[in-house]
Amino acid sequence: MTICSIVENISTDKPAIFRKKVLDWYDAHRRILPWRALKGEYPDPYRVWLSEVMLQQTTVQAVIKYFLKFTERWPDVHALAKADNDDVMSNWAGLGYYARARNLHKCAKIISNDYDGIFPSDQAALQKLPGIGDYTSAAIASIAFDNPANVVDGNVERVMARYHACRIAVPEGKKALKEYASLYADGFIKRTGDYAQALMDLGATICTPKSPACSLCPLNESCLGYAQGMPEIYPLRAPKKERPKRYGYVYHVTNVQGDVLIHKRLEKGLLGGMYGFPTSEWLEDEGGVEHLSLSENRIEWDANNTNITHVFTHFHLTLTLFSYVILDKRNIPLDYEWIDKAELQKLGIPTVFKKALKKFG
Ligand code: ADE
Repeated sequence: MTICSIVENISTDKPAIFRKKVLDWYDAHRRILPWRALKGEYPDPYRVWLSEVMLQQTTVQAVIKYFLKFTERWPDVHALAKADNDDVMSNWAGLGYYARARNLHKCAKIISNDYDGIFPSDQAALQKLPGIGDYTSAAIASIAFDNPANVVDGNVERVMARYHACRIAVPEGKKALKEYASLYADGFIKRTGDYAQALMDLGATICTPKSPACSLCPLNESCLGYAQGMPEIYPLRAPKKERPKRYGYVYHVTNVQGDVLIHKRLEKGLLGGMYGFPTSEWLEDEGGVEHLSLSENRIEWDANNTNITHVFTHFHLTLTLFSYVILDKRNIPLDYEWIDKAELQKLGIPTVFKKALKKFG
């Protein structure tokens, strides 16, 4: 079967053969990961759900530590549902995309209260829950419940793009890559969870973004990208637009007792619901940024003469650091709190504020 081939004399495998090669490879080379059931064990839907939410836009390497921390603290969905929201957010700090943590906690409460702690097993029901979209519902349905699903993450896209030497560049090409993946996922009902994870592992360990290890790949004889001799060019990518730049100020404000002022950010929006240092607005017009006015009653205004930078998905941020002392610690605006310096070190805060904390010392 050759769909988008420009290579002569080689054809991609029929779905049953493709799946067999991938599953045989998985049986010999699967990764041991903390959320994964071992051979012969049943997966725990709570752990599968938690891991899949953490793995949205985040690497396996970065997730492992957080997954272990969460499951030690909240071993099941009821425990997580009962947790304090600030505690959940603070333990998520550093993983980014904080709406995931808010939705995770909301979802835990729904599963615990309305579903008796039992996750639904089909994609449509899963997608009604907060934080569970197309990809995550497919991953949970197949990995936790062995239901048929077409699970397509970045690893699977890469495997499909190379295997079919797909000429359509992503992001537009994502739809075509999902259709390629469906050729091998649709209509199969056995070992669907293993198959989904097998493709992910293949993408993560063999069909890697740079220097793929094609000689070790179970699909190499029928891979069109390999036959062309340059699999690493796939998936083709549309030229990236440059990230816009934004600028602002970040403040280390202390009172005469040495407590530090922290800001609880609004629930909605970037870093929503997280604690951090007070900041000005972040604007594209560097000259238009105005200082945050917290109190006129301050001393020791210190422009630290230093910046931090942080890359968010949609923009690149530069924050200039300032420190000062407020004499009257009362009358601070709502959503701001004084916190003991030692407590601040323990508080989970987003990476952009960790960078500032390091410089403020
Ligand atoms: N990436 C997303 N989900 C994954 C999983 N279950 N195993 C490995 N990598 C993943």
